[in-house]
Amino acid sequence: MTEFEPDDEALSALPQTGEREVETTLRPRRLTEFVGQPRVREQLELVLESARRRGVPPDHVLLSGPPGLGKTSLAMIIAAELDAAIRITSGPALERAGDLAAMLSNLVEGDVLFIDEIHRIARPAEEMLYLAMEDFRVDVVVGKGPGATSIPLEIAPFTLVGATTRSGSLTGPLRDRFGFTGHMEFYSAQELELVVRRAATILDIRFDDSGAAEIADRSRGTPRIANRLLRRVRDYAEVRADGLVNQEIARAALEVYDVDELGLDRLDRAVLSALVRSFGGGPVGVSTLAVAVGEESTTVEEVCEPYLVRAGMLARTPRGRVATAAAWAHLGVEPPPGLPLQGGRFAEDSPSLFD
Ligand SMILES: Nc1ncnc2c1ncn2[C@@H]1O[C@H](COP(=O)(O)OP(=O)(O)OP(=O)(O)O)[C@@H](O)[C@H]1O
Ligand SMILES: [Mg+2]
Repeated sequence: MTEFEPDDEALSALPQTGEREVETTLRPRRLTEFVGQPRVREQLELVLESARRRGVPPDHVLLSGPPGLGKTSLAMIIAAELDAAIRITSGPALERAGDLAAMLSNLVEGDVLFIDEIHRIARPAEEMLYLAMEDFRVDVVVGKGPGATSIPLEIAPFTLVGATTRSGSLTGPLRDRFGFTGHMEFYSAQELELVVRRAATILDIRFDDSGAAEIADRSRGTPRIANRLLRRVRDYAEVRADGLVNQEIARAALEVYDVDELGLDRLDRAVLSALVRSFGGGPVGVSTLAVAVGEESTTVEEVCEPYLVRAGMLARTPRGRVATAAAWAHLGVEPPPGLPLQGGRFAEDSPSLFD
């Protein structure tokens, strides 16, 4: 056994155990420190600045996008930019309306309430949230049956920030109550390079341009992964070399960790491989595909597919998922003749089937 076991999880977009602490250290604190997402950043700047000038809490904000792109970081930045306190909870934690009522009634004017995974909020809590978002009021029901009464409760004006990896499964009424939705996109290699440089500086890792670029290139468009690969390459550089992260070291380290040139993770590759090898390239339904790789459909849909689509490897068609020629090529499997979908990395001219 070497000290560098290939690590399936090195590329997962989901946070790994024990990673929270280092993520906290690396979280950007201010909007100006937040790399990339120029559209969301500019839009948010306007929303925040205008609220600041009017002296009122800004509209409720929804942040949507795949894991690890910076939704939680942005929520905290919103509070910091407003000089406001942030209360943090999550959809699954709000099982009963009472849980939410307790949270809401403790808010102080101007507070930011952050609800992570807001699409998983239970129905009764969601209904209570409608009124709270709109009128800063909730109706607390006391008692049961015909004798039940509802007591209105005033809530201090606050700003709700919701995060979701699945904006499609938010109910219409909930979505409509957000004044602003920021759609987070995968990061470009240049943006990720800035993320890597920033993290390397904070973590006191010696690196050169080529090393940062190599890590950025293989990070699956995701800052969380970029920061993690940087730490794994650092380990390798310290144990096997003199500690400097350059291209050669980055390549050798990422080889050991089984990270391919596109930065696809284990699940991405399993999905592509099932699609190509077991289903002849598709079309196949997402639930069938999920069973084939032993995962939940939602994970395949929310974590895996967005990047494969973005990378031009997989297309979502009305009849099911289809592998593009680029996917066959990436797996080194000869595609059947006449494959209609070319794909390719971040193909600009993707056929309309790609949505
Ligand atoms: N724009 C950015 N600039 C620099 N670092 C970033 C940026 N976005 C994210 N990060 C880094 O990536 C890590 C993960 O980001 P964050 O926790 O905000 O993602 P998330 O979208 O909330 O993910 P999840 O859906 O899993 O909750 C952060 O700790 C931070 O270090
Ligand atoms: Mg988060």
